[in-house]
Amino acid sequence: MSKPLTIADLKTRARRRVPKMFFDYADSGAWTEGTYRANEEDFAKVKLRQRVLVDMTNRSLATTMVGQEASMPVALAPTGLCGMQHPDGEMLAAKAAEEFGVPFTLSTMSICSIEDVASVTSKPFWFQLYVMKDREFVANLIDRAKAAKCSALVLTLDLQILGQRHKDLRNGLSAPPKWTIHHGIQLATKPFWCMDMLRTRRRGFGNIVGHAKNVSDLSSLSSWTAEQFDPQLSWKDVAWIKERWGGKLILKGILDEEDARSAAETGADAIIVSNHGGRQLDGAMSSISMLSKIVDAVGDRIEVHFDGGIRSGQDVLKAVALGARGTYIGRPYLYGLGAMGKPGVTTALEIIRRELDITMALCGKRDIQAVDSSVLADVRF
Ligand code: GLV
Repeated sequence: MSKPLTIADLKTRARRRVPKMFFDYADSGAWTEGTYRANEEDFAKVKLRQRVLVDMTNRSLATTMVGQEASMPVALAPTGLCGMQHPDGEMLAAKAAEEFGVPFTLSTMSICSIEDVASVTSKPFWFQLYVMKDREFVANLIDRAKAAKCSALVLTLDLQILGQRHKDLRNGLSAPPKWTIHHGIQLATKPFWCMDMLRTRRRGFGNIVGHAKNVSDLSSLSSWTAEQFDPQLSWKDVAWIKERWGGKLILKGILDEEDARSAAETGADAIIVSNHGGRQLDGAMSSISMLSKIVDAVGDRIEVHFDGGIRSGQDVLKAVALGARGTYIGRPYLYGLGAMGKPGVTTALEIIRRELDITMALCGKRDIQAVDSSVLADVRF
Protein backbone atom coordinates (compact mmCIF):
# COMPACT_ATOMS: atom_id res chain seq x y z
CA MET A 1 0.00 0.00 0.00
CA SER A 2 1.34 3.45 -0.84
CA LYS A 3 2.13 5.91 1.92
CA PRO A 4 -0.85 8.05 2.92
CA LEU A 5 -0.49 11.56 1.49
CA THR A 6 -3.51 13.24 2.98
CA ILE A 7 -5.73 13.02 6.04
CA ALA A 8 -8.45 11.68 3.72
CA ASP A 9 -6.16 8.70 2.90
CA LEU A 10 -5.89 7.94 6.61
CA LYS A 11 -9.65 8.19 6.97
CA THR A 12 -10.18 5.61 4.22
CA ARG A 13 -7.81 3.20 5.94
CA ALA A 14 -9.32 3.75 9.38
CA ARG A 15 -12.79 3.02 8.04
CA ARG A 16 -11.50 -0.34 6.80
CA ARG A 17 -9.86 -1.31 10.08
CA VAL A 18 -12.00 0.04 12.93
CA PRO A 19 -15.39 -1.48 13.85
CA LYS A 20 -18.20 0.66 12.49
CA MET A 21 -19.59 1.81 15.85
CA PHE A 22 -16.21 3.26 16.90
CA PHE A 23 -15.30 4.72 13.51
CA ASP A 24 -18.74 6.33 13.40
CA TYR A 25 -18.41 7.60 16.96
CA ALA A 26 -15.27 9.52 16.01
CA ASP A 27 -16.71 10.62 12.72
CA SER A 28 -20.23 11.58 13.74
CA GLY A 29 -21.83 14.97 14.12
CA ALA A 30 -25.13 15.78 15.81
CA TRP A 31 -28.50 15.49 14.01
CA THR A 32 -28.17 16.32 10.29
CA GLU A 33 -24.40 16.81 10.67
CA GLY A 34 -24.83 20.21 9.02
CA THR A 35 -22.46 21.97 11.42
CA TYR A 36 -19.99 19.09 11.21
CA ARG A 37 -19.88 19.57 7.41
CA ALA A 38 -19.81 23.37 7.62
CA ASN A 39 -16.73 23.17 9.85
CA GLU A 40 -14.82 21.56 6.98
CA GLU A 41 -16.51 23.32 4.07
CA ASP A 42 -16.12 26.88 5.37
CA PHE A 43 -12.34 26.60 5.23
CA ALA A 44 -12.70 26.65 1.43
CA LYS A 45 -14.23 30.12 1.73
CA VAL A 46 -10.94 31.50 3.02
CA LYS A 47 -8.63 32.28 0.09
CA LEU A 48 -4.90 32.67 0.40
CA ARG A 49 -2.68 35.36 -1.08
CA GLN A 50 0.04 34.01 -3.36
CA ARG A 51 3.36 35.87 -3.04
CA VAL A 52 6.50 35.40 -5.13
CA LEU A 53 10.22 36.06 -4.95
CA VAL A 54 10.28 36.22 -1.20
CA ASP A 55 13.20 34.53 0.57
CA MET A 56 11.75 31.20 1.71
CA THR A 57 14.77 29.73 3.50
CA ASN A 58 14.97 28.97 7.23
CA ARG A 59 11.29 28.56 7.90
CA SER A 60 9.96 28.04 11.41
CA LEU A 61 6.64 26.64 12.56
CA ALA A 62 7.55 26.70 16.25
CA THR A 63 5.31 28.59 18.62
CA THR A 64 3.86 28.50 22.12
CA MET A 65 0.39 27.68 23.39
CA VAL A 66 -0.37 28.95 26.91
CA GLY A 67 3.34 29.65 27.21
CA GLN A 68 4.33 26.06 26.42
CA GLU A 69 6.48 25.22 23.45
CA ALA A 70 4.96 23.50 20.43
CA SER A 71 6.84 22.54 17.27
CA MET A 72 3.84 23.82 15.29
CA PRO A 73 0.58 25.51 16.35
CA VAL A 74 -1.27 22.21 16.59
CA ALA A 75 -2.27 20.17 19.64
CA LEU A 76 -4.05 16.82 19.77
CA ALA A 77 -7.62 17.51 20.87
CA PRO A 78 -9.27 15.59 23.68
CA THR A 79 -11.31 12.79 22.11
CA GLY A 80 -13.51 10.29 23.92
CA LEU A 81 -12.95 6.56 23.39
CA CYS A 82 -9.66 7.12 21.57
CA GLY A 83 -8.54 3.73 22.91
CA MET A 84 -11.34 2.11 20.90
CA GLN A 85 -9.89 3.33 17.59
CA HIS A 86 -6.81 1.29 18.45
CA PRO A 87 -5.87 -0.61 21.62
CA ASP A 88 -4.10 1.65 24.13
CA GLY A 89 -4.81 4.50 21.71
CA GLU A 90 -4.34 7.34 24.18
CA MET A 91 -0.95 6.04 25.30
CA LEU A 92 0.21 5.67 21.70
CA ALA A 93 -1.09 9.07 20.62
CA ALA A 94 0.47 10.77 23.65
CA LYS A 95 3.83 9.22 22.83
CA ALA A 96 3.57 10.24 19.16
CA ALA A 97 2.68 13.82 20.19
CA GLU A 98 5.54 13.96 22.67
CA GLU A 99 8.04 12.81 20.02
CA PHE A 100 6.64 15.36 17.59
CA GLY A 101 6.79 18.18 20.13
CA VAL A 102 3.10 19.06 20.22
CA PRO A 103 0.71 18.98 23.19
CA PHE A 104 -1.50 15.93 23.74
CA THR A 105 -4.82 16.40 25.53
CA LEU A 106 -6.29 13.42 27.34
CA SER A 107 -10.10 13.31 27.54
CA THR A 108 -11.98 12.54 30.75
CA MET A 109 -13.84 9.98 28.59
CA SER A 110 -10.67 8.19 27.54
CA ILE A 111 -10.05 4.46 27.68
CA CYS A 112 -6.49 4.69 29.06
CA SER A 113 -6.38 6.53 32.36
CA ILE A 114 -4.42 9.64 33.37
CA GLU A 115 -2.00 7.33 35.18
CA ASP A 116 -1.63 5.03 32.15
CA VAL A 117 -0.66 7.96 29.93
CA ALA A 118 1.69 9.39 32.57
CA SER A 119 3.41 6.01 32.79
CA VAL A 120 4.50 6.10 29.13
CA THR A 121 5.30 9.79 28.66
CA SER A 122 8.15 11.87 29.98
CA LYS A 123 6.85 15.35 29.20
CA PRO A 124 3.66 16.79 30.67
CA PHE A 125 0.43 16.31 28.74
CA TRP A 126 -2.84 18.25 29.08
CA PHE A 127 -6.01 16.94 30.69
CA GLN A 128 -9.57 17.71 29.59
CA LEU A 129 -12.20 17.87 32.29
CA TYR A 130 -15.91 17.16 32.16
CA VAL A 131 -17.84 18.25 35.20
CA MET A 132 -20.07 15.62 36.76
CA LYS A 133 -22.69 16.13 39.45
CA ASP A 134 -20.46 14.17 41.82
CA ARG A 135 -18.12 17.07 42.72
CA GLU A 136 -15.96 14.85 44.90
CA PHE A 137 -15.19 12.77 41.81
CA VAL A 138 -14.42 15.95 39.82
CA ALA A 139 -12.11 17.29 42.54
CA ASN A 140 -10.41 13.91 42.60
CA LEU A 141 -9.92 13.97 38.81
CA ILE A 142 -8.31 17.42 39.10
CA ASP A 143 -6.02 16.12 41.84
CA ARG A 144 -5.09 13.08 39.75
CA ALA A 145 -4.20 15.35 36.81
CA LYS A 146 -2.03 17.42 39.16
CA ALA A 147 -0.35 14.34 40.56
CA ALA A 148 0.39 13.20 36.98
CA LYS A 149 2.01 16.64 36.40
CA CYS A 150 -0.37 17.62 33.60
CA SER A 151 0.62 21.10 32.48
CA ALA A 152 -2.79 22.47 31.43
CA LEU A 153 -6.41 21.74 32.26
CA VAL A 154 -8.87 22.01 29.37
CA LEU A 155 -12.34 22.56 30.79
CA THR A 156 -15.11 21.70 28.33
CA LEU A 157 -18.05 24.10 28.51
CA ASP A 158 -20.25 22.90 25.68
CA LEU A 159 -21.30 19.45 26.83
CA GLN A 160 -23.56 19.82 29.85
CA ILE A 161 -25.87 17.50 28.01
CA LEU A 162 -24.95 15.28 25.09
CA GLY A 163 -26.06 16.30 21.58
CA GLN A 164 -28.15 13.73 19.73
CA ARG A 165 -25.87 11.77 17.42
CA HIS A 166 -27.92 9.58 15.18
CA LYS A 167 -25.11 7.26 14.13
CA ASP A 168 -24.25 6.44 17.75
CA LEU A 169 -27.89 5.79 18.60
CA ARG A 170 -28.39 3.55 15.57
CA ASN A 171 -25.15 1.67 16.26
CA GLY A 172 -26.01 1.16 19.94
CA LEU A 173 -22.59 2.54 20.83
CA SER A 174 -21.20 1.18 24.07
CA ALA A 175 -17.80 0.62 25.61
CA PRO A 176 -16.76 -2.08 26.07
CA PRO A 177 -18.86 -3.44 23.17
CA LYS A 178 -21.86 -5.53 24.21
CA TRP A 179 -22.12 -9.13 23.12
CA THR A 180 -25.14 -8.76 20.90
CA ILE A 181 -25.52 -10.11 17.35
CA HIS A 182 -25.45 -6.56 15.97
CA HIS A 183 -22.15 -5.76 17.71
CA GLY A 184 -20.80 -9.24 16.98
CA ILE A 185 -21.24 -8.72 13.23
CA GLN A 186 -19.45 -5.37 13.38
CA LEU A 187 -16.54 -6.92 15.27
CA ALA A 188 -16.36 -10.08 13.15
CA THR A 189 -15.64 -8.02 10.04
CA LYS A 190 -12.62 -6.37 11.72
CA PRO A 191 -10.46 -9.33 12.83
CA PHE A 192 -7.17 -7.41 13.08
CA TRP A 193 -8.73 -4.82 15.39
CA CYS A 194 -10.20 -7.62 17.53
CA MET A 195 -6.91 -9.50 17.78
CA ASP A 196 -5.08 -6.33 18.78
CA MET A 197 -7.77 -5.46 21.29
CA LEU A 198 -7.46 -8.83 22.99
CA ARG A 199 -3.86 -7.93 23.82
CA THR A 200 -4.82 -5.05 26.09
CA ARG A 201 -6.87 -5.01 29.27
CA ARG A 202 -7.86 -1.38 28.67
CA ARG A 203 -11.35 -1.61 27.20
CA GLY A 204 -13.47 0.51 29.55
CA PHE A 205 -13.36 4.14 30.69
CA GLY A 206 -10.07 4.18 32.57
CA ASN A 207 -10.58 7.52 34.33
CA ILE A 208 -13.97 6.59 35.67
CA VAL A 209 -14.48 2.91 36.37
CA GLY A 210 -13.10 2.17 39.82
CA HIS A 211 -12.92 5.89 40.69
CA ALA A 212 -16.52 7.13 40.53
CA LYS A 213 -18.95 5.74 43.09
CA ASN A 214 -21.33 3.01 41.88
CA VAL A 215 -19.90 2.81 38.38
CA SER A 216 -18.48 -0.51 37.36
CA ASP A 217 -19.02 -0.38 33.65
CA LEU A 218 -20.22 2.28 31.27
CA SER A 219 -22.12 0.22 28.84
CA SER A 220 -24.20 3.06 27.52
CA LEU A 221 -22.39 6.30 26.96
CA SER A 222 -25.48 8.41 26.39
CA SER A 223 -27.40 7.26 29.45
CA TRP A 224 -24.34 7.58 31.69
CA THR A 225 -23.68 11.08 30.39
CA ALA A 226 -27.30 12.02 30.94
CA GLU A 227 -27.18 10.78 34.53
CA GLN A 228 -23.77 12.06 35.54
CA PHE A 229 -22.86 15.22 33.63
CA ASP A 230 -23.91 18.38 35.43
CA PRO A 231 -26.54 20.35 33.47
CA GLN A 232 -26.22 23.16 36.02
CA LEU A 233 -22.54 23.85 35.36
CA SER A 234 -22.09 27.64 35.51
CA TRP A 235 -19.46 30.38 35.30
CA LYS A 236 -19.20 30.19 39.12
CA ASP A 237 -17.94 26.63 38.82
CA VAL A 238 -15.13 27.81 36.58
CA ALA A 239 -13.83 29.84 39.54
CA TRP A 240 -13.58 26.88 41.95
CA ILE A 241 -12.14 24.62 39.29
CA LYS A 242 -9.51 27.25 38.47
CA GLU A 243 -8.65 27.58 42.13
CA ARG A 244 -8.47 23.84 42.80
CA TRP A 245 -6.35 23.29 39.68
CA GLY A 246 -4.03 26.26 40.19
CA GLY A 247 -2.28 25.89 36.80
CA LYS A 248 -2.85 26.84 33.17
CA LEU A 249 -6.55 26.74 32.36
CA ILE A 250 -8.07 26.53 28.87
CA LEU A 251 -11.83 26.94 28.36
CA LYS A 252 -13.10 24.85 25.46
CA GLY A 253 -16.31 25.32 23.52
CA ILE A 254 -16.79 29.06 22.93
CA LEU A 255 -18.70 30.04 19.78
CA ASP A 256 -20.25 33.32 20.82
CA GLU A 257 -18.74 36.73 21.49
CA GLU A 258 -20.74 37.28 24.67
CA ASP A 259 -19.62 33.91 26.06
CA ALA A 260 -16.06 34.78 25.02
CA ARG A 261 -16.20 37.95 27.13
CA SER A 262 -17.48 35.97 30.13
CA ALA A 263 -14.69 33.46 29.59
CA ALA A 264 -12.06 36.21 29.46
CA GLU A 265 -13.33 37.55 32.79
CA THR A 266 -12.62 34.26 34.54
CA GLY A 267 -8.88 34.87 34.25
CA ALA A 268 -8.36 31.62 32.33
CA ASP A 269 -5.28 31.46 30.11
CA ALA A 270 -6.98 30.60 26.82
CA ILE A 271 -10.29 29.83 25.16
CA ILE A 272 -10.90 27.37 22.37
CA VAL A 273 -13.31 28.56 19.70
CA SER A 274 -15.15 25.32 19.12
CA ASN A 275 -18.52 23.74 18.47
CA HIS A 276 -17.27 20.34 19.62
CA GLY A 277 -16.63 19.23 16.06
CA GLY A 278 -20.30 19.68 15.17
CA ARG A 279 -21.18 17.02 17.74
CA GLN A 280 -23.35 19.19 19.99
CA LEU A 281 -25.59 21.94 18.55
CA ASP A 282 -26.35 21.08 14.95
CA GLY A 283 -27.28 24.29 13.14
CA ALA A 284 -24.62 26.30 14.96
CA MET A 285 -22.15 28.38 12.95
CA SER A 286 -18.96 26.73 11.76
CA SER A 287 -15.99 27.34 14.06
CA ILE A 288 -13.85 29.05 11.42
CA SER A 289 -16.61 31.53 10.55
CA MET A 290 -16.75 32.68 14.21
CA LEU A 291 -13.02 32.84 14.86
CA SER A 292 -12.15 36.40 13.86
CA LYS A 293 -15.25 37.84 15.56
CA ILE A 294 -14.20 36.21 18.81
CA VAL A 295 -10.59 37.31 18.37
CA ASP A 296 -11.86 40.88 17.86
CA ALA A 297 -13.95 40.62 21.03
CA VAL A 298 -11.34 39.19 23.42
CA GLY A 299 -8.06 38.60 21.61
CA ASP A 300 -6.35 41.42 23.48
CA ARG A 301 -7.23 39.83 26.83
CA ILE A 302 -6.91 36.09 26.42
CA GLU A 303 -5.17 33.66 24.09
CA VAL A 304 -7.58 32.36 21.46
CA HIS A 305 -7.24 28.78 20.25
CA PHE A 306 -9.32 27.03 17.62
CA ASP A 307 -10.73 23.63 16.70
CA GLY A 308 -13.28 22.28 14.24
CA GLY A 309 -12.88 21.07 10.68
CA ILE A 310 -9.10 21.12 10.32
CA ARG A 311 -8.18 18.48 7.74
CA SER A 312 -4.94 19.94 6.41
CA GLY A 313 -2.02 22.17 7.21
CA GLN A 314 -3.63 24.80 4.99
CA ASP A 315 -6.55 24.88 7.40
CA VAL A 316 -4.13 25.43 10.28
CA LEU A 317 -2.56 28.37 8.44
CA LYS A 318 -5.99 29.89 7.77
CA ALA A 319 -6.96 29.61 11.44
CA VAL A 320 -3.68 31.22 12.50
CA ALA A 321 -4.19 33.98 9.91
CA LEU A 322 -7.64 34.64 11.37
CA GLY A 323 -6.14 35.08 14.82
CA ALA A 324 -5.76 31.66 16.47
CA ARG A 325 -2.61 31.25 18.55
CA GLY A 326 -2.94 27.50 18.29
CA THR A 327 -5.24 24.87 16.86
CA TYR A 328 -6.38 21.35 17.78
CA ILE A 329 -6.92 18.33 15.58
CA GLY A 330 -9.23 15.50 16.69
CA ARG A 331 -10.49 13.38 13.81
CA PRO A 332 -7.30 13.70 11.70
CA TYR A 333 -5.22 11.99 14.36
CA LEU A 334 -7.94 9.47 15.21
CA TYR A 335 -8.05 8.41 11.57
CA GLY A 336 -4.27 7.94 11.70
CA LEU A 337 -4.51 6.00 14.93
CA GLY A 338 -7.32 3.76 13.67
CA ALA A 339 -5.49 3.14 10.41
CA MET A 340 -1.99 2.41 11.69
CA GLY A 341 -1.66 2.90 15.46
CA LYS A 342 1.13 5.18 16.70
CA PRO A 343 2.85 5.57 13.28
CA GLY A 344 -0.52 6.70 11.94
CA VAL A 345 -0.67 9.54 14.49
CA THR A 346 2.86 10.56 13.50
CA THR A 347 1.84 10.37 9.84
CA ALA A 348 -1.17 12.63 10.47
CA LEU A 349 1.10 15.17 12.19
CA GLU A 350 3.67 14.94 9.38
CA ILE A 351 0.98 15.49 6.74
CA ILE A 352 -0.30 18.57 8.56
CA ARG A 353 3.23 19.93 9.13
CA ARG A 354 4.24 19.49 5.49
CA GLU A 355 1.10 21.18 4.19
CA LEU A 356 1.40 24.00 6.71
CA ASP A 357 5.05 24.61 5.88
CA ILE A 358 4.60 24.63 2.09
CA THR A 359 1.50 26.82 2.27
CA MET A 360 3.17 29.32 4.60
CA ALA A 361 6.16 29.58 2.26
CA LEU A 362 4.01 30.07 -0.85
CA CYS A 363 2.18 32.85 1.01
CA GLY A 364 5.55 34.52 1.43
CA LYS A 365 6.10 33.91 5.16
CA ARG A 366 8.94 32.15 6.92
CA ASP A 367 7.82 32.26 10.53
CA ILE A 368 4.42 31.05 11.72
CA GLN A 369 4.53 33.66 14.47
CA ALA A 370 4.54 36.38 11.78
CA VAL A 371 1.48 34.97 10.01
CA ASP A 372 -1.51 37.28 10.17
CA SER A 373 -4.44 38.33 7.98
CA SER A 374 -2.00 39.70 5.39
CA VAL A 375 -1.73 36.12 4.02
CA LEU A 376 -5.43 36.15 3.15
CA ALA A 377 -6.80 37.30 -0.21
CA ASP A 378 -10.49 36.92 0.52
CA VAL A 379 -12.79 35.65 3.27
CA ARG A 380 -16.48 35.13 2.50
CA PHE A 381 -18.58 33.26 5.05
C1 GLV B 1 -17.16 13.57 23.82
O1 GLV B 1 -16.46 14.49 24.09
C2 GLV B 1 -17.84 13.46 22.59
O2 GLV B 1 -17.93 14.45 21.86
O3 GLV B 1 -18.31 12.36 22.31
